[in-house]
Amino acid sequence: MKTLRRITLRVNGTAYTGEAEPRKTLADFIREDCGLTGTHLGCEHGVCGACTILMDGQTVRSCLMFAVQAEGAEMTTVEGLADGDRLHPIQQAYWDHHALQCGFCTPGFLMTTVEFLNDNPQPTEREIREALAGNLCRCTGYQNIVTAVAAAAHTLAAATGALRETGAAVPVSRATGVAAGPRKTRATRAAPHRARQTGKPSKRRSGPKR
Ligand code: FES
Ligand code: FES
Repeated sequence: MKTLRRITLRVNGTAYTGEAEPRKTLADFIREDCGLTGTHLGCEHGVCGACTILMDGQTVRSCLMFAVQAEGAEMTTVEGLADGDRLHPIQQAYWDHHALQCGFCTPGFLMTTVEFLNDNPQPTEREIREALAGNLCRCTGYQNIVTAVAAAAHTLAAATGALRETGAAVPVSRATGVAAGPRKTRATRAAPHRARQTGKPSKRRSGPKR
């Protein structure tokens, strides 16, 4: 017999209430119950990074969490980045530098980039490559993504330049405009060296979800 639980999740500042089996993944709830299909599902076992979202400012793989585990958290998906028709500077940099082809991986890369630039507003190329190592792209060859992240860092640094000129640290939430969460004490981040292997549903799918 199906056991349903009523849950309310906050995504991009909006509360979504629905009934979900305890085994329903956070990714499925976001896509099916919230209608936010920008979060993609590729591997569904924590490898590809396509399902990456921010939870309390930290990246998590939404295919590895159950929806019921996310109650009380503030989540941001790729739909929460743009300001109306105006792309977020990170999205704009991806666009400007041709950092996507089919775009399937892009939401995950964007959310990873948000967290990364909050943590490290002035990264080296090597740091960018390391930060993105947990997201897979089958199209671009990665170079343009790395270029886009470097460009986004430059744009965001220019926006917060006044602070840097005074020698003050740039507050993390100012770096990307997306609130950063508490410092990294939880093991819920998405890069492979940090990803939490939460329970995953026994249900398997036949292919990736767009
Ligand atoms: S769908 Fe691949 S890591 Fe979640
Ligand atoms: S742009 Fe196609 S998978 Fe990355």
